[in-house]
Amino acid sequence: MASSSSACLTSIMAIVIVAVLALSVGNSHAQLSTSYHSKSCPELLETVYAVVKSAIAKERRMGASLLRLHFHDCFVNGCDGSILLDDTSNFIGEKNAGPNRNSVRGFNVIDDIKSAVEKVCPKVVSCADILATAARDSVVILGGPTWEVKHGRRDARSASQGAANRSIPAPTSSLSTLISSFKAQGLSAKEMVALSGSHTIGQARCTTFRARIYNDSNIDTGFAKSRQGNCPKTSGSGDNNLAPLDLQTPTAFDNYYYKNLINRKGLLHSDQELFNGGSADSQVRKYTNYPEAFSADFAAAMIKMGDIKPLTGSKGEIRKYCRRMN
Ligand code: HEM
Ligand SMILES: *[C@@H]1O[C@H](CO)[C@@H](O)[C@H](O)[C@H]1NC(C)=O
Ligand SMILES: *[C@@H]1O[C@H](CO)[C@@H](O)[C@H](O)[C@H]1NC(C)=O
Repeated sequence: MASSSSACLTSIMAIVIVAVLALSVGNSHAQLSTSYHSKSCPELLETVYAVVKSAIAKERRMGASLLRLHFHDCFVNGCDGSILLDDTSNFIGEKNAGPNRNSVRGFNVIDDIKSAVEKVCPKVVSCADILATAARDSVVILGGPTWEVKHGRRDARSASQGAANRSIPAPTSSLSTLISSFKAQGLSAKEMVALSGSHTIGQARCTTFRARIYNDSNIDTGFAKSRQGNCPKTSGSGDNNLAPLDLQTPTAFDNYYYKNLINRKGLLHSDQELFNGGSADSQVRKYTNYPEAFSADFAAAMIKMGDIKPLTGSKGEIRKYCRRMN
């Protein structure tokens, strides 16, 4: 009797141990780490940096475009490289989703990085990890803060245009919509405000800010007039005309994004929602006065964004070409 009950106890313990192990393997976050590729690809960081550096030297806006690619990857079923998959005759990717079509760019640079990485360490670094690294390098090269990028993500064998349409916030969003779309990804309102500081670099198309410059009342009049000069009121013509998201220093990663908001010179309706008499005002004020606070919060929030639902272990794959599955 005694021996059978202790055998029973032993097998219960064994089951518990197996269950705990299975849980920790299933907990994908556990496996991303900053040293993930230190043995398998010691040249990874310098290889990515060199390609990003030369792409930005050719065109400074590219830094913004690469940063945004990582965001649009992570917000759609996790940071899994899904945004990089091309549409084919029997596959619908995310590139033609509403928030991406005629808008996201930088895919050739990602291809260049991937082929440089494949040369030094074939088949070990995912496209998702390359996106996270290129985003960080872009911010650094444009004068922003640095952080240690975690690695170990694997690449999706699927994509979701529907999820891209639903999950990436629109520039018409209200503050509460912005907060809830980041909450849905496990990011706080505070992290949303910090990550929005990305709009201190890069460009937007007329179609994304037309309603703001003609119809919003919380906009500096002179600023609205000057933006109207290159963004006609009627949709159709001029839809793709560009304007800088930060009118002061569009290729420097600084805190002018927030200073602009205080002057009612946010370009997107969604930008100005962060400083419009609501709950985010105080954080915007803080970032205009304490750029170091913005830098620290931004870096921490980027790490958190990079942790969104990665594929690890035996899930997904390490793509050879970022535009297609193996
Ligand atoms: C808070 C909600 C956000 C909204 C509503 C939003 C919306 C937009 C829109 C409409 C554009 C212009 C796209 C175009 O006209 O083609 C844009 C550009 C950009 N966004 Fe966001 N965004 C948000 C958050 C973020 C975040 C979190 C990041 C990065 C972590 C980011 C990075 C960028 C960058 C860098 C650009 C410029 C890209 C370029 O010049 O190629 N955005 N965003
Ligand atoms: C996503 O949005 C685009 C552009 O608005 C639309 O053409 C497409 O049908 C949508 N796809 C899905 C799956 O919702
Ligand atoms: C401005 O608002 C009016 C009334 O809602 C609307 O008819 C018009 O299309 C809007 N204009 C732009 C440029 O969004």
